[in-house]
Parts: sequence; C-alpha cells; structure tokens
Amino acid sequence: MKLNWTILRNWRRCCRLLFAALAGMLMQSAHADVGRERLSLDRGWLFHLGDVPFYVPVTQDETYYSTKAGLASGAAAVKFDDSAWRKLDLPHDWQIEQPFDPKANPAQGFRQRGIGWYRRYLVVPASDRGRHVELEFDAIATHATVWVNGNLVNRNWSGYNEIRIDITPYLQYGDDNPNVIAIRDDANAMEGWWYEGAGMYRHTWLIKTDAVHIVPEGVRVTPRQGSAGAWEIPATVTLDNDGKEASRVDVEIAVTGPDGKLVARRSTSIDVPVLTQVTASLPLKIPNPSLWSLDKTTLYHVTTTVRRDGREIDQLALDTGFRTLRFDAAHGFFLNGKHVKLQGVCLHQDHAGVGVAVPDAIWEYRLRRLKELGVNAIRFSHNAIASEVLDMADRMGFLVMAENRHFNPSPDYMKQFEWMLKRDRHHPSIILWSVFNEEPMQATEAGYEMARRMVAVAKALDGTRPTTAAMSNGLLTPLNVSHAVDVVGANYQVPEYDKYHAAHPDKPFTSSEDTSAFMTRGEFATDKARHIETSYDVEFPKWGNTHRDAWQAIDTRAFVAGGFVWTGFDYHGESWPYTSWPSVSSFFGIMDLNGFAKTAYYMHQVQWIKDRPLVYLAPHWNWAGKEGQAIQVRVMANTERVKLVLNGREIGEQKVDNYRMNDFKVPYEPGTLEAIAYTGGKEVARARVETTGNAVALDLVPDRAALAGDGRDALPITVRALDAQGRAVPLANDEVTFELLGAGKVIGNGNGDPNSHEDEKGRSRRLFNGLAQLIVQGNRDGRGVLEIHATAPGLRPAVLTIPLKAVAQIAEVPVVAAPRNDHP
Ligand code: GAL
Repeated sequence: MKLNWTILRNWRRCCRLLFAALAGMLMQSAHADVGRERLSLDRGWLFHLGDVPFYVPVTQDETYYSTKAGLASGAAAVKFDDSAWRKLDLPHDWQIEQPFDPKANPAQGFRQRGIGWYRRYLVVPASDRGRHVELEFDAIATHATVWVNGNLVNRNWSGYNEIRIDITPYLQYGDDNPNVIAIRDDANAMEGWWYEGAGMYRHTWLIKTDAVHIVPEGVRVTPRQGSAGAWEIPATVTLDNDGKEASRVDVEIAVTGPDGKLVARRSTSIDVPVLTQVTASLPLKIPNPSLWSLDKTTLYHVTTTVRRDGREIDQLALDTGFRTLRFDAAHGFFLNGKHVKLQGVCLHQDHAGVGVAVPDAIWEYRLRRLKELGVNAIRFSHNAIASEVLDMADRMGFLVMAENRHFNPSPDYMKQFEWMLKRDRHHPSIILWSVFNEEPMQATEAGYEMARRMVAVAKALDGTRPTTAAMSNGLLTPLNVSHAVDVVGANYQVPEYDKYHAAHPDKPFTSSEDTSAFMTRGEFATDKARHIETSYDVEFPKWGNTHRDAWQAIDTRAFVAGGFVWTGFDYHGESWPYTSWPSVSSFFGIMDLNGFAKTAYYMHQVQWIKDRPLVYLAPHWNWAGKEGQAIQVRVMANTERVKLVLNGREIGEQKVDNYRMNDFKVPYEPGTLEAIAYTGGKEVARARVETTGNAVALDLVPDRAALAGDGRDALPITVRALDAQGRAVPLANDEVTFELLGAGKVIGNGNGDPNSHEDEKGRSRRLFNGLAQLIVQGNRDGRGVLEIHATAPGLRPAVLTIPLKAVAQIAEVPVVAAPRNDHP
C-alpha cells in the first residue's frame, strides 16, 4: 500500500527512471572506453546564505517517507525551489563577503561565519551509463553534508580535507534528467584559532572513468633509494570495479624524464572482481635519475594506465622527484647530501580580498614573493594545503613541512591523516610529516601513545620522510611526544634549544615555529592606543622573539636544522598583541596580507640570500615637521661594510652586522639618503630613500603584463600614488575608487592595514602607507582587454589595460539550469 502511494505521488519521476533504466540497459555494453575524464565543476553553483530548515513531518505517512533514501526534504530535496538563489562560481568564501562585526569572533577576524547552502544541477549523458562517476570537493569549510538526488552521500567535518564521493549508484542519465547536488555547509564550527573562511573554497571536480578504475589516491609512486644507492619506485596501484562482471585488466606505469624520454616502464595483469579493491604491484628501477633540488627542480612524470583488451580505460598522471634527505642530530638538514639550513616560514591559507578562496595564480604570486625573499622552506600550518600549491612547491623549489590538522589517532581522524599522506607522498618538496601543532597533551603519556600510533601510520603509508611534531613545551619531561617522532620540532622556547640538545645529542632538532614578531607595514613608531606596531623589529609576544633574535639563535646553532618564521604573510584574524576591535588581521607577517614587504622582509632577505650583494634602507624619508630631530635609520645588508650618506654628506660607516643590522641616528633634513655597500673595499650595491613631494597622480602596476582568458587566472595590481617627479609617495592614504571595463571582474582588494574595516569586495580602497592591491580576473573564453580605471579626489586618474590571452579552456562540466519543474 505504501509503495502504491509513493508510485502515485512520484509517478512522473518513476516513469522517467524506468525509461532511463531500460535505455541504459540497452546502452550498457555500447558505451565506448574513453578513459578518465576529470572535469572542473567550479562553475554554475547556486548559493544561499543562512540555513534552510528541513521539513518536519507531521503525518504518519510523511514521517515514514522522510526516512527513506532519495527523499531528503528542504533544500536537500530534488525538487526545491532554488530559483532565487545567487549564482556563483567556485572557489568561494562567503565569510570574506561579510561585514566586520565587533560582536563576531576576533580569532576569525571579526566576521560571522554561519551556515550556507549550495546546489548544482548536473547532466550526465546517457552514454556515461555503466561508467564510474565521482565527485571531488578539494575542501569545504567546515562541516559539510552532501546529498545527490535526495540521497545523503557524505558527512564531512573538517574544512581541510578532500571529499571524494562515488555517486554512480544515485545517478540518472540524459539531458532531461539533471542530477542535483545539494550541500549544507555549517561553518559555525571552528577547527582553528585563525581565519578559516566558509564555503567551497577550493576546486571541485567531476571524475568519470570506466567501471574498473583507480581508486582515490590509489597510485603510490614515491621514489626511494635502496641500500646500494640505486633508485626505485615501489609502485602500487589500487583498483576497484563497479561493473557487474569481474574484469581482467593490464596496468602499466611509465616514467618519463624532464626531457619527455621514457626511463622506465612496467606492466602487469590483474583480475578485478566486482565491487572489490585489489592492488597491483609494479616496482620500477630508475637508473641514475637527475636529482630534484632547490635550484634544479627536476620532475619526472609518472603515468599509470589501465587497459582492457588493449583499450585504455583509466589513466592518472603524477609528478615526482628523486632526492635524498637526512636530518643529522649534530649538523642539521641535508638535501642530496648537501647541507641546507631551513630558511622557512609558516603560512595560513588566506589572502587580501579573497579570503581562503585563493586563486591558483595568487598562490603562485605568494610563493614567488617568498622565493624572492630567500625562503627555502614552508610549513603549511596547521593543516593540509591545496594540492595545486604543493605542485607549485615542487616546481618552484621549496622544502615543505606538511602538517596534520587534528591530533587524534581514533579512526575518523586518522582517516584524514591517512588521506593527506596518500595524496601528498609523491611530492618531492615534502620533507617532514608533522602530526600536530602545540597540543596540550604533548608532554603526557597519553600524548606520547597517540603520537606513536600516528607515526606508525606515516611509516606504513610513506616511510620515506621523517615525522615531527611542533611542540610548545614539555621537551625535557621524561615521556613526551618528542620520543615518538623522528625530528623534534620546537615552537619558540629558544632557551630550551641547548638544554634539549645536551640531554638528547642524538636526536635531530628543528625549530618548527619561531619569531611571532609584530610589525605594521610602513609604520615606525608603536602606538598601542591606535593598534600600531613599529617596523624596527622590537615588538614580540612573551612566547616569541624579534626576527633578528630568533634567526640568530637558529643560525648560530649547527644542530638546529632551521626555522619557520611565524608568519610569511599576515592573515585575517588572530590579531595579537591586540586580539580586540578594531584589529581584524594579524601583525606577524614578514609581508602584509597583500604580499607587500614589511621591514622584516629586507632583514630576512639579506640574511637568507648570499649569492648577490644586497642593501636596503628603512624608514622612508618623508618626515616633514621633524627637521633636525634624530631619525633611527636601519641599514640591512649582506656585504662587508655600509656607508650612509645624506644629501651627499657622509653620516657614518659601519661593519655590517647581518644578525643585528646596522642602525644610525640621522638628524632629519629632506633630500636623499643613500646606503652604499662595500665588499673587498669595492662598492657592490646601493640603496636610497628620497623625500617625495605630495601625491599628484595614481599609478597601477600589474604583477604580470597579461592575463589568461580562462576565468581562473587572477592578477594582483599594486595601486600607489606618485609625486610630480614620478616617485611613489610612502605616506599616501588617498581613497581610491575602481572601475573595471571589459572582459573580467574585480575579485578583491586590500591594503595591509590590520585595523581597516573596508569592504574587501568593494569598489574603493584607501591606500595604506602608500599602497593598496586590487585583484582582477578575466572572463572564461575571454578575449579582448580589461580596462581598470582608478580615481581619487585631487589626483590624476590611472588607467591600466590588461590584454586577455587566448588559452586552452579547462575541461568542465557544462552549466545547466534547474529543470523547469513541478515544484511540490
Ligand atoms: C603559536 C601557534 C600559532 C599562532 C602563533 C601566534 O603558538 O602555533 O598558530 O597562534 O602562536 O604567535
């Protein structure tokens, strides 16, 4: 009786399904083997901010059916009127769109998070019947529940891991039967004490393969060096089969070198039973590979191909690299047998204007800024990062500490750690797996037992990198987590370095986090009442150090493998030393939220770059009203001596102190202040600051000359003000209004002021100490140009034209409208 009722109620849907099933049975064997398709699912989402309540059943019948598969209610229901929802493309962070709110959480940057819903329609052609279809969400912040066609298919409770869902069983096929994905995203939950963003903030994909397919993260191709020194890849490939019959397939792994030439190939045949995972083993020997190093990031391409009857049915390609690494208890870190001091930074994952929805191109910009600074190591704190960023680290040459989010070896949590290990173990850039950051249980027996279990999993799933844990105390207690990991990671605790090493001379040691010094870009006097921190590197919290002290402590101890400055860039939230309104973002960065250099940038750059002479000067030289007063001038250099000259008069000469830097007191007079750097008695570099006139014109400086017209590329543009002689005015604070014409849009703006409450998605932005940043994106299928106009009262406007380059478009799932339904 109940069945009859349902059929009657849903007769139209049932007829459609029946017809589709019949058609499908006919097509089952007809569909061609087309291999793997990984299609972008970033475009065409519908979004609703705020919760949509589920229908609460009231009758006996409604209650009965409310518990059944495929019959989810509310916004999870197949037929739900979403016609008023906002259309948007991913990546998307709705938290960054919210106004600042003094009642919101300071750790999260004084912005509300809340709950949001996403929906998307998806046509799967009838020709795909019989194939395996998966959703891949690279991350959703924070607690996501996913429905497909009214079936609850996944609950995910971390904003930092990928979600992979086999949606094959729930699908309906054909243009007339779009499938519905619905996601309820509860971002009220917090997993961190920093800005975490909210929403589908990484990429999203639809993967289609043959019924016999490589499972998610199912290819293990981490190279290792055998005891005799020969290189091998003990490759394994795990397959599954959704089909109705067992299948015998050939699995091949081919390794090609950077020149595209084949260096190794191996294949094997394997039976894949129905709905059962099997693993093929294909160990490969790699004779004399070119090594991956920081300067020469040689990558090998590993292609795994699955064939049935000679026809390709699945294929997956990964890059990897060959390098040795060793942490030595006395001498630190060695890459390919060569000593490398880790000149590292910790990074969170947000940027000005875009929050955590950071386009890949902006990540590329951020990593490029770090490379220019001389950074050679990055700790992605305190969570797994997008895989595109790790690909960049491989290509650009960084050493990565990959860190697990939750310290917990219970099965649900361990799954996340396992996922990170499996996804990331092919990256040559990764040198350490960190099981946690600063856990209160770090110096307890329970903490030790928990860590021991997590380390065992890291060994089983990788085993080619050492493990660490970023410990903030308890290093010298009798039983603590340091005994469970390979390399001791010390957060701060400089006074403990020597004590620990004396007590455990055989244990490799690194700073896993240090510094935490405060600076406001372009400010040179602390003003606590106005939440401003000076840039002379003297402000730091009780657990931290100045940049100079921290690096000196690390660099002068051979047993300390290196350090990771907290942080490379400012981030939203966690605004120590204030953590109170009006401060909405951090003061820790070597660079601000936009990637503009603070004074710390130059101090570290002269310490970390040794192969060319460098000299810098701070502060700016616009001190009208302070004539005759002594200004503290800091010269930062990596040469032997520096001389300071004001308006052609020598102020003094000093031997360079590359740890402390060189300070001079200079009575202010307008003009030109120059630092001349010498090595071996010869001038090798020169820096100058000049007193500028008032701003008369705006200026727009793009990071690159063109933009790809693919709807994905993004371009940061520096906005500044110039005086009559074309010099950038360091104190300009004009409010600039932007207008963008042509084939693209503005996706965010920022200025690096941690106390600014301007709209990061707005049309205007004040310059902060002379600078602001605008981020633009071209249209997909974009041709033509973007024309950016910047205006400010009393200043000559600036116009910038950015051509869009025609590029190959990423393969994507077509955007379809909601079916014109029959809403209940
Ligand atoms: C550390 C912590 C970081 C950040 C930093 C601020 O103790 O690991 O996440 O909070 O302090 O100084």
